[in-house]
Amino acid sequence: MTAGNDTRSIAVLFVCLGNICRSPLAEAALRAIAEREELDIVVDSAGTGDWHIGHAPDARAQEVARKLGRLSIATMQARQVNAEDFDRFDYILAMDTNNFDDLRAMQPPGSKAQLSMFLDYLPGHEGGSVADPYYGDERDFEACWRQVSAAAEGFVKAVRPPAPA
Ligand code: 4NP
Repeated sequence: MTAGNDTRSIAVLFVCLGNICRSPLAEAALRAIAEREELDIVVDSAGTGDWHIGHAPDARAQEVARKLGRLSIATMQARQVNAEDFDRFDYILAMDTNNFDDLRAMQPPGSKAQLSMFLDYLPGHEGGSVADPYYGDERDFEACWRQVSAAAEGFVKAVRPPAPA
């Protein structure tokens, strides 16, 4: 893997229920931060559910990524999390406690991924869930974007190796 500066490569998977709202936004936010910081982080997202496999992100998620993040997520395609993901990724970050419980139940014993709640990386929100904006409106999607962006900044701070002396 190519290494930007002093970093080692890590692989991160975001997981929500449908993989069309929260986890694609988290994926886009972390990828943008990694590019900005020249960090070598592989980023992907998936859903615990199978209803939206192959679908592009929800139009409202696409709009908020474009408007607040200046990012296009239109070509992303939803997929379902699978057992192999637990060995492909170093970190699997759950958006809510239901996702976390489902992931813990399917994690193969001895697999490498460290499973945690994404908001464990957002100071003051440890153990909390990213609210599902699917049944909400544009404001809920904006709040979701801001929260996953802040948590992605926290994640990068937590995993970034110290600069060489
Ligand atoms: P997500 O939101 O888990 O953030 O992608 C949802 C998307 C679809 C559904 C529920 C939540 N659904 O019931 O289809």
